[in-house]
Amino acid sequence: MPNDTGLFPPPPRADIVAAALPGLTGLPKTLPAMLFYDKEGCRLFYEITKLPEYYLTRTEMALLPSILSNIVPPGLTDGMLVEFGGSDETKARLLLDRPDRPFSTYVPIDVAAESLDAMQARMSRSHSWLNVLPVVGDFMQPLRLPKISGQPMGFFPGSTIGNLDPSAAIRFLRTARRSLGQGARFLLGADLRKSPDLLLPAYNDAAGVTAAFNLNLLRRLNTEAGADFDLRGFRHEARWNDAESRIEMHLISIRAQVVRLAGKIINFSEGESIHTENSYKHRAETLVRIAGEAGWDTLEIFQDHAGLFGEFLFQT
Ligand code: AVI
Repeated sequence: MPNDTGLFPPPPRADIVAAALPGLTGLPKTLPAMLFYDKEGCRLFYEITKLPEYYLTRTEMALLPSILSNIVPPGLTDGMLVEFGGSDETKARLLLDRPDRPFSTYVPIDVAAESLDAMQARMSRSHSWLNVLPVVGDFMQPLRLPKISGQPMGFFPGSTIGNLDPSAAIRFLRTARRSLGQGARFLLGADLRKSPDLLLPAYNDAAGVTAAFNLNLLRRLNTEAGADFDLRGFRHEARWNDAESRIEMHLISIRAQVVRLAGKIINFSEGESIHTENSYKHRAETLVRIAGEAGWDTLEIFQDHAGLFGEFLFQT
């Protein structure tokens, strides 16, 4: 049926329906966090990184330059920097732009082919001396890296490791170790466990940007999967789960309601939650153990002076 603009809505995307339906029809209800990152979700996440309450990005950006001389083997000139989930080169540039230029090749890996293309175009203008070889793919899967002779170094900044549960984090780090090969180094940026007084505002900011980011999931299901969520019928909630050492994001149904998605009826009771994201805040020793189980030795751990954020340097 034509919608109220007189146009036919696009057909529901089967991949989005398949990603959303199992969690929405299970108990408790969940949605996969990977659905956050459509164009609007990426824009809102970028806004989050600038918020006063979201200390993660600015803390890591301040920490990285101070540790650069300690993370690459001395004398390296033909290194290959492999960034997992890297469609934005901002943090990698801190490593690539060192005056001694330890890396001659940069391999950003991401599922977003368009963002990688745009980044390659930018980098070819600003870094003509650098070989930029993007790989389009899911970094959770084994990847064939470009064959070059340089020493590889993995880079996984931004605390994205915290969005994986511990067993998935071990699987990711093991797969990355196999892709990078013997002798590789790996630099991991991770937010650390701290008081919920600091954590909760970072995931429930006063300006409501994180709430918009969370609710954007439902808007996306409406526009791309043909669902009929009433966005005013749900509210954002961030919770600290102390036993699991993680921030959880939820969307709470503010009344009993019924939603339709791909011919399925989904009933919500008042106060019922859709659990949309986990953000683990590990202690440094937990991350060392996770990396060890994946076959990495820890060479060094760097932290900002307040101990908010850690950069972990691993080697096979
Ligand atoms: C991408 N990731 C590291 C962010 C985090 O802090 O877990 C995603 C995010 N969710 C809400 N705010 C930011």
